Amino acid sequence: MAKAKKILVIHGPNLNMLGKREPEIYGRATLDEINKDITGKGASNGLDVQTFQSNHEGAIIDKIQECFGNIKGIIINPGAYTHTSIGIRDAILSVNIPVIEIHLSNIYKRETFRHKSMIADIAVGQISGFGIYGYMLAIDAMMNFLSSS
Ligand code: DQA
Repeated sequence: MAKAKKILVIHGPNLNMLGKREPEIYGRATLDEINKDITGKGASNGLDVQTFQSNHEGAIIDKIQECFGNIKGIIINPGAYTHTSIGIRDAILSVNIPVIEIHLSNIYKRETFRHKSMIADIAVGQISGFGIYGYMLAIDAMMNFLSSS
């Protein structure tokens, strides 16, 4: 059997607070529950999906750099760093791994400072506004992208 393709899902700052944090915006599911769904969906589709969360920009950059040469695709919700982090953008460019950007909320319906993403133009695509279902869409989109590229 072919070796499972490795995918990494990165959750940025404050996403460890899911379930408690502004549930009217982000829903009631916890990060553990979301990670179980993600890894389960990956496994049933022959993907080896790992997950990582950090509140620290440098830790996220270190993790992206570690992906070089062993991870086939990255799904990332950079949280608030979406709107500010040139460092995360540069890390993604440095490893040359396809990235799908995801947000639980529709960032374009919210404050104007959330409308700008530092990674949207270097991502394969962006999923925004579908809550936790967005992660299922992102896994499907990554599988489709990897099998057609
Ligand atoms: C978010 C949207 C960001 O603007 C915010 O800072 C987050 C979560 C989302 O998933 O909707 O932390 O990335």
